[in-house]
Amino acid sequence: MKIDVFELERIQSMYENKVEYNLSDTGVHPYTLKELFNNEEIAELAGQRLGYGHTNGDPGLREAIARLYPGADAANVLVTNGSAEANFIALWSLLEPGDELVLMQPNYMQIWGLARSFGAQVKTFHLMEEMDWGPSLEQLKEQITPRTKMIAVCNPNNPTGAVLSDLEMRWLFKLAEQVGAWIYADEIYRGAELDGKETPSFYGYSDYKKVIVNGGLSKAYGLPGIRIGWLAGPFDIIARAWACHDYTTISAGIVGQWVARRALQPGMREKILNRGREMLKENLNVLQQWTDRHNGLFRFVPPRAGAMAFIKHNLPMKSREFATRLRVEMGVFVIDGDCFGMDGYLRIGFGSEKEYLKAGLARIDEFLQSISL
Ligand SMILES: Cc1ncc(COP(=O)(O)O)c(C=O)c1O
Repeated sequence: MKIDVFELERIQSMYENKVEYNLSDTGVHPYTLKELFNNEEIAELAGQRLGYGHTNGDPGLREAIARLYPGADAANVLVTNGSAEANFIALWSLLEPGDELVLMQPNYMQIWGLARSFGAQVKTFHLMEEMDWGPSLEQLKEQITPRTKMIAVCNPNNPTGAVLSDLEMRWLFKLAEQVGAWIYADEIYRGAELDGKETPSFYGYSDYKKVIVNGGLSKAYGLPGIRIGWLAGPFDIIARAWACHDYTTISAGIVGQWVARRALQPGMREKILNRGREMLKENLNVLQQWTDRHNGLFRFVPPRAGAMAFIKHNLPMKSREFATRLRVEMGVFVIDGDCFGMDGYLRIGFGSEKEYLKAGLARIDEFLQSISL
């Protein structure tokens, strides 16, 4: 099987633990167990028997996830190892060689690479910077054909932090319905909205039922280390995805599911998400002030959600050269736009602790001075 290198993840895997300032992450600064749970709860966790558990996910956890989607119940949910596995299983179980998939761009490139490796033809439509990263519905219309099996979006979007409007979502439904295509929505950044207004899910948003979404705790909830994600969709599709999951990882870990179930309880969930949003708001200010100080060199449309800004630069070098030199010479890791097929941009993650972010940005200042900018 031929598979493209998943550049974004590869580059992060190689360097994120080696640099002094990692500004490549797109989620809220992770929690420790001690910050989340009291001693009694930690003792309860320590008493968990480490079996396989329910391979489609702990029933209580699946119920808690189902509450996030109008009209869903536990049978509409499959728990996976991160939403990366959810993406894999959704595409693996639905795409056939020769199918067409229309993908929102820019995007986290997992779906791009997977669909191509499964023999699908990937077409794209774009979010436009001049429309505050709104989608070109004209392009989308042009790309859809009777062979379109799936329209895949990332909403809120990685790397721009853009969120589709109600009208744009309705257009998407209309276009998908015209050709009977699946809508696949990667919604991992749901809950990380800076204005606190939770992005509506594609699940249950319309009468059109060919919709599958993913979700997970890695970004807004600051819990990437428990590797808990999920798929939500029609019962028969989720049953099929579960059968595929038998081939991938069998089940998600018991410890992670224990944490996830509690993180999604009403009260706890709001506490976690509010803490994340407060951090993101403060840190976005720090980043905005920093780009303002470099007037003319950097500009960006403020993200509506997620801990990342997709920054257009005016540097006298390519994004990749800048990001590589910054990493090698100054120990600061940002993602070049090439990972999204867009030279001229840098993705800077701002979900870390504020002082760390400030120190990382100060290092970038030093680098800019060293190259006389
Ligand atoms: C859009 C998108 N989907 C999926 C993932 C994978 O997330 P997880 O850690 O839940 O596997 C990421 C991670 O960066 C992402 O940005």
